[in-house]
Amino acid sequence: MDLKQRINTERLPCHVAIIMDGNGRWAEQQGKERIFGHESGVESVRDTVKAAAEIGISYLTLFAFSTENWCRPQKEVDTLMGLLTKAIDNETLDLHKNNVRLQAIGDIDSLPFSCSKQLREAIELTSGNTGLTVNVALSYSARWEITKAARKIARKVAEKRIDPEDVDQELMNEAMETARLPDPDLLIRTSGELRISNFLLWQLAYTELYFTPVLWPDFRKKHFYQAIIDYQRRERRFGKVECHADEVKQA
Ligand code: FPP
Repeated sequence: MDLKQRINTERLPCHVAIIMDGNGRWAEQQGKERIFGHESGVESVRDTVKAAAEIGISYLTLFAFSTENWCRPQKEVDTLMGLLTKAIDNETLDLHKNNVRLQAIGDIDSLPFSCSKQLREAIELTSGNTGLTVNVALSYSARWEITKAARKIARKVAEKRIDPEDVDQELMNEAMETARLPDPDLLIRTSGELRISNFLLWQLAYTELYFTPVLWPDFRKKHFYQAIIDYQRRERRFGKVECHADEVKQA
């Protein structure tokens, strides 16, 4: 039976987040410049978005550029920004035709103007779509996000709009970049690294983690489906005793 058919569409993770890692190593293995890996990684993004849409995933969050990535050599940063701008430009109409809604989290204002402009236009164009939501994390880090949320709440307290006692998890959730998204059910990280790397630290509290040695430019639909099948074999307890219904019996 092919992998896609083994997926129980009744028990899909609602939100899948991905740390797309290994572009540089993939390129180096082939004796090429790192940027060649990033270029090839765009094809993996395309395949993964298609895979997620085909099986009916609601939210897909992709870690495309971290706050820390600004410290990479200027040439790599510039090329990555150019690549992102080009990818948004090339893919937006196709995403729109396929009812995909594009969103972003992170410090979008810190991106080069051409990139943030393209991104805002694509978000606006696709805002009414009702299929898969692709959420791109750009100039994002979880500690940046949590600090910003704390600042936002502290300001409200200082202005006496809320009492310190009112600060609860719901208020924290609302202050996060991901306020309008459910927490990820599944996190995939490619390239064999076993780290979270400052990604969605608040939101990953009960997320199932899936690590694969596959380098991001090699990641294709079949790898995405493998991750979903693995997730569906797990029993989620959310710290409780009873089991939540994500376990699937395979024929
Ligand atoms: C990590 O590999 C990857 C990135 C920092 C960039 C990911 C960006 C893309 C795939 C471009 C397209 C994205 C979208 C959303 C269109 P790495 O450079 O850290 O690899 P390494 O760990 O092997 O050095």
